[in-house]
Amino acid sequence: MPKSREPASAPDSEDDALVVFMPTGRRGRFAQGTPLLQAARTLGVDIDSVCGGRGICGRCQVIVGEGEYAKLGITSAADHLGPLAANELRFAARKGLAKGTRLSCSACLAGDVLIDVPASSQIHRQIVRKRTDARSMVIDPIVRPLYLEFDNLDIDEPGHRLKTALREQWEISAHIPAALAMQLMGDEASVTVALREDREVIALWPGFRADLYGLSVDIGSTTVAAQLSNLCSGEILSEAGMMNPQIRFGEDVMSRVSHIMMNPGSGRQLTSIIREALVELARDCAGQAGVSARDIVEVTVVGNPVMHHIFLGLDPIPLGQAPFPLAEDGPLTLSAVDLNLDLSPGARVHILPCIAGHVGADTSAVILSEDPHNSDGLVLLVDIGTNAEIVLGNKDRLYACSSPTGPAFEGAQISCGQRAAAGAIERVRIDPATLEPRFKVIGSDLWSDDPAFAETVAGVGVTGICGSGIIEALAELFLCGAIRTDGLFDQELAKYSPRIVGDGKTSAYLLHAGPPEIRIVQLDIRNIQLAKAAVYAGAQLLLGKSGAESVDKIILTGAFGSYIDPKYAMILGLIPDCELAKVSAAGNAAGTGARIALLNAQARQEIAEVARTVEKIETALDADFQDQFVGAMAFPHAHHAFPRLAEAVKLPKRTVQGSGRRQRVGRRRER
Ligand code: FES
Repeated sequence: MPKSREPASAPDSEDDALVVFMPTGRRGRFAQGTPLLQAARTLGVDIDSVCGGRGICGRCQVIVGEGEYAKLGITSAADHLGPLAANELRFAARKGLAKGTRLSCSACLAGDVLIDVPASSQIHRQIVRKRTDARSMVIDPIVRPLYLEFDNLDIDEPGHRLKTALREQWEISAHIPAALAMQLMGDEASVTVALREDREVIALWPGFRADLYGLSVDIGSTTVAAQLSNLCSGEILSEAGMMNPQIRFGEDVMSRVSHIMMNPGSGRQLTSIIREALVELARDCAGQAGVSARDIVEVTVVGNPVMHHIFLGLDPIPLGQAPFPLAEDGPLTLSAVDLNLDLSPGARVHILPCIAGHVGADTSAVILSEDPHNSDGLVLLVDIGTNAEIVLGNKDRLYACSSPTGPAFEGAQISCGQRAAAGAIERVRIDPATLEPRFKVIGSDLWSDDPAFAETVAGVGVTGICGSGIIEALAELFLCGAIRTDGLFDQELAKYSPRIVGDGKTSAYLLHAGPPEIRIVQLDIRNIQLAKAAVYAGAQLLLGKSGAESVDKIILTGAFGSYIDPKYAMILGLIPDCELAKVSAAGNAAGTGARIALLNAQARQEIAEVARTVEKIETALDADFQDQFVGAMAFPHAHHAFPRLAEAVKLPKRTVQGSGRRQRVGRRRER
């Protein structure tokens, strides 16, 4: 607020007007003629302002309640604020002002009023997320715009002029880099500055500017995704993604570490290409939103430990071997210029903290998004990629580990596997009596037994099976008795179904006759068993450390976690037993966490503290992990019961080699 709008300290008198601000219900009496914004500030009511009460920004709009509010002892009417002030008339002519809406900086009390402060005018407004179980996001950015008018053009030195205006108009004493102040030409009547942490000006523009822009970036091993947000409103303005260009140096993180190890000096190259990728995404997002990448004043970055280290230019080689030490694990805020990022020259880049050698800033972001550290119940977070990052805990304690799943869930190591793309089988159902399948492919809403199916997939065809498809196919085969608890095909069924076919010394299941022919072979099942056992064993390891026997809630994150059906994942024993209604998918929680950190300064402190206290479990070094892993190879597990799953699904009895066909067929008929 400009100095001229200091809160009045006039004593209450009979002529004072009562003002009640909703939704907080804060109230007070003020002398007639007091600007509403001034009354609000005195009462600690949160109303935004960029222009400092000059009637330019429109951020301070409020709505006048009309009528009698008996419980509040108030009769409110529009004329209790007097007629529209000159600033409001100018604003209304320029941008429009709805009936009953006033600029709180310009409307003055003339009687008792009830004032509604809409969410759009609150500084710390909440954004309610679409998922009902997700916490809402509070907008409290670290950078805010402030409008300044230069009344005193006599002051020659630009930095001094800016400092004087900030002090006189906003009562703020801030550092202003000389290079920034030199951007002033000398004849500007007004500027908007970007003020960071209320103590440093990091950007300025001539004239008035209402919005600032920030970018949140999730650097994955395979893809890099960015979102451009309006730092003032929290609105997502645009999104962009690309394949991680480092992929040409290795498909996964460990092969990139090997590349750097084998090619001294190549780390710098990987660092520079990921930074260039970030700028490319920034330009893409900015272009979509009609702004420039040089308008981006704040960035948050998350990624797994190897991506984190390479982005920062740190040596990732130690992360390739036990004890996997991190060169840097705390949160960092660096200058975009120091990172060679062509954004606003004053922009800062905040990197969220890493947790352990295999549990990175992306997991910190997932925690920030999913909030297990504020939960009463025990929450299991599972982020499945080529490694599964697993977090377990509640408000008392969090445990985290990473478990090596390999690429099977992404369709690799599966004979007919492919990434989730058009043409990939993503859903599978198998008739328990005949073993005949029907399936859905990405790109068509129809099941394969629909007469119109062939027509809808004519362009792309049925090309392979992706991670969610193989999970469903195996779970259905298991429910039908075609594969046993130990993952082996029941070869006897070949006598009764043409779908079970010989494959060398083992069998295979013919899912699609083709072309191309799509089979599920014994090795595919083995690879899924290895991958799912890694996830389950990691979760059990954490459960063991926590002393709990079961979880109250499971959240699957990441692209794969969003597409798999929790029921099928549990049937295979990928995740522990849990009430199915308490298993949900959170989508790109790492990206959401990065965005929360972008929009809320407090959230950065929160996750820095939480990350410090997470208990890290190193699966590669833990003696229990191997035991857990062996038991977890079976479907759903060699000896763990799944009572809550069994309430929803009729699970087959455990089978052992040599059990007779009659027993198994009978079991199939039970379904
Ligand atoms: Fe800017 Fe009221 S504070 S228009």
